[in-house]
Amino acid sequence: PLHDRGVMARWREYLPVTEATPFISLNEGSTPLIHSPKLSERVGRGCEVYIKYEGLNPTGSFKDRGMTMALSKAVEDGAKAVICASTGNTSAAAAAYAARASIACIVLLPAGKIAFGKLAQAFMYGAKVVAIDGNFDDALHLVREIGETEPIAIVNSINPYRLQGQKTASFEIIDVLGDAPDVHILPVGNAGNISAYWMGYQEFHQLGKATKQPRMCGFQAAGSAPIFYNKVVEKPETVATAIRIGNPASWKLASAAITDSGGSIDIVTDAEILSAQQWLAAHEGIFVEPASAASIAGLFKSLENPIPTCPIPRIAEGSKIVCTVTGHGLKDPDIAREQCGSVIPAKAEKGEILRLIAG
Ligand code: F0G
Repeated sequence: PLHDRGVMARWREYLPVTEATPFISLNEGSTPLIHSPKLSERVGRGCEVYIKYEGLNPTGSFKDRGMTMALSKAVEDGAKAVICASTGNTSAAAAAYAARASIACIVLLPAGKIAFGKLAQAFMYGAKVVAIDGNFDDALHLVREIGETEPIAIVNSINPYRLQGQKTASFEIIDVLGDAPDVHILPVGNAGNISAYWMGYQEFHQLGKATKQPRMCGFQAAGSAPIFYNKVVEKPETVATAIRIGNPASWKLASAAITDSGGSIDIVTDAEILSAQQWLAAHEGIFVEPASAASIAGLFKSLENPIPTCPIPRIAEGSKIVCTVTGHGLKDPDIAREQCGSVIPAKAEKGEILRLIAG
């Protein structure tokens, strides 16, 4: 079949699609679940850690899973244009899938707070890129207002088709492991993804495709942690610009996921995020953007004992742990460059290179 790839094809029977739904796909999903021997060793006590590497989606983040659904349904409903607020990845995905669907795309971004790779994507995919003098929460507020009066489809995760598409990541994990994991760790920003994963796990559990459901453990950046502090953050700040959000749209759903799964919500500092980002690249060869490294930083934090702020349930012996890393490291080249050492200048001459190698 022509349409045998992408989450709408692979998980069709679990998604709200019909014969009338167009197939707007870029072969997203089916990302690798990579076993991490070094993280498993660090956790110890017979635990195994797996990385769900969502940076390998077509636009480099997990947003593609939701966007294939959102754009397909928007076209089915006759939309001629879509709009979203974004910290960068949603806008990249919306722009790409809108291009594929041949409809217009408008993205509202917080000025100066978008990683360069994401901005480049929105431009290349042909979106109208608007930078507002406000943060993500302000942008989302504007998008909601525009959606009320204009014939433009909103493709933020307040669009229910987004979470439907994103829940397929849980299906894939169950498919690979043969069951759900015991603990699932992921970064939390607008809180759609943790809600979508939980939907997916519950659905497959109810269908008898998994014998258990994982504890959902979310991590927010310390300067942008409204769920953790149970209070809107007016001026969120973090180096992980993807999750620089002070008033998440899916707050209630995420809280339910955390409570119902026996999970937790906690914070990691920018320093912990950057150190985990470097650790994962240098030890496992997996380069992710800062926000994604919040799950690895969270896993490390949960191993410290005692941790006054970390309510993550102590990881039981022999647990299977999945950490979702949500976006590719190349999305944010500037942050990576700031962490790089300096290059070693050398003459183009074998002797000198060998001396450098030995030294
Ligand atoms: N990781 C990355 C790389 C993200 O881009 C986002 C969200 C998250 C984690 C958090 O996921 O919002 O579902 O809790 N990025 C959105 C955007 C807000 O506009 O790209 P969430």
